[in-house]
Amino acid sequence: MDSFVFNTVASIVSGAGSALELAGQCESLGIKRPLLVTDPGLVAIGLIEPVRTALAGGDVEPVMFDQVREDPPEHIVLQAVQLGVDRQVDGVIAVGGGSSMDVAKVAAVLLGGDQSLDQLYGVDQVVGGRLPLILVPTTAGTGSEVTPVAVITTGETTKAGVSSKILLPDVAVLDADLTLGLPPAITAMTGVDAMVHAVEAYTSRHKKNPLSDNLARQALQLLATSIRAAVHDGGNREARSNMLLGALLAGQAFANAPVAAVHALAYPLGGHYHIPHGLSNSLVLPSVLELNAASASDLYAELAEIVVGETVVGSNEAKTAALINALRQLIDDVSLPATLREAKVAESDLEMLARDAMLQQRLLINNPRDVNYEDALSIYTAAY
Ligand SMILES: NC(=O)c1ccc[n+]([C@@H]2O[C@H](COP(=O)([O-])OP(=O)(O)OC[C@H]3O[C@@H](n4cnc5c(N)ncnc54)[C@H](O)[C@@H]3O)[C@@H](O)[C@H]2O)c1
Ligand SMILES: [Fe+2]
Repeated sequence: MDSFVFNTVASIVSGAGSALELAGQCESLGIKRPLLVTDPGLVAIGLIEPVRTALAGGDVEPVMFDQVREDPPEHIVLQAVQLGVDRQVDGVIAVGGGSSMDVAKVAAVLLGGDQSLDQLYGVDQVVGGRLPLILVPTTAGTGSEVTPVAVITTGETTKAGVSSKILLPDVAVLDADLTLGLPPAITAMTGVDAMVHAVEAYTSRHKKNPLSDNLARQALQLLATSIRAAVHDGGNREARSNMLLGALLAGQAFANAPVAAVHALAYPLGGHYHIPHGLSNSLVLPSVLELNAASASDLYAELAEIVVGETVVGSNEAKTAALINALRQLIDDVSLPATLREAKVAESDLEMLARDAMLQQRLLINNPRDVNYEDALSIYTAAY
């Protein structure tokens, strides 16, 4: 077996209502006054108040930062840090989607060390420590609660990643009750994002490993069997907790066996059209898999039955085709647009998008086959 490295979060707490018991986690981590990072939408629907009240009832004094935006820009991170400095917080908690969790991760580093934001971008650039950090996802998608990555928007159309083991939180808390009101479209997009994490981890070229493989398979099983119910019957607790666990497992998988061309081709769509991350992935997923099919059919074949949901017979090529068909069907079943045209992407932009995708070499090197500019253009054209 090839050698491999696998890192993950030291502590994962899962259970309905566990977000109301954060005071206990704070006590074990020595947190008395945490920065509570979230977004205004979650405050408006009343999701945060019970968490805040429960913390206060447990002798913890949360300092609310509720200004996170989707695809959070740098100034939001800096605003959160400034509030943390002013109020002398001693820990950071995020309750929210990937956007809130990513802001919290970077804020915990900036508040706990003496680096500037600019110095953090890239791989292993974080030196020193961070404040104690607890992450509580409210979407079942990014897996950010167990990844060493934070994605920050740095310009009009550009994002940059901070990647360091130090960003893994002390505790990830899964409370599916928080996701019961997640609207159908967001459930669908974030759920497909998590499925893409599992698929891309499973075929990751350099760091594929037995632990990520197992996690990816189990993640895909949970996500593929529950996403329809979670989208169309949001109050279904079992489906919601399967989705949340599936997203975490997929996060653990891709944190150690990184994602590839689906994400590389999705990023320019987010950058130029502000298409949400999960939908961007969903739009290019079938076409990327078709391009990869000849190089990865043995691995895709292993995933086919999990997604199809029944025995698939035939060659690896036939199983790969069945996997891609099942994914197309699933995208349709959860009511996501299937083509770039439906997502209002201009056909005249495809070449620009393909050029931009080529900038994502960090991701493209993980793809089971090389992807050049012509390949990227053919994927966008097929997805149009
Ligand atoms: N760190 C990582 O490993 C990683 C991986 C993939 C993506 N990302 C980043 O994560 C971000 C996307 O995160 P996301 O997809 O989780 O969405 P998000 O955090 O941007 O939230 C999307 C919307 O969903 C709403 N929402 C969230 N939870 C809700 C709930 N329970 N009920 C009702 N509404 C709810 C929010 O208010 C927001 O309007 C992007 O910035 C992306 O780049 C990070
Ligand atoms: Fe993703």
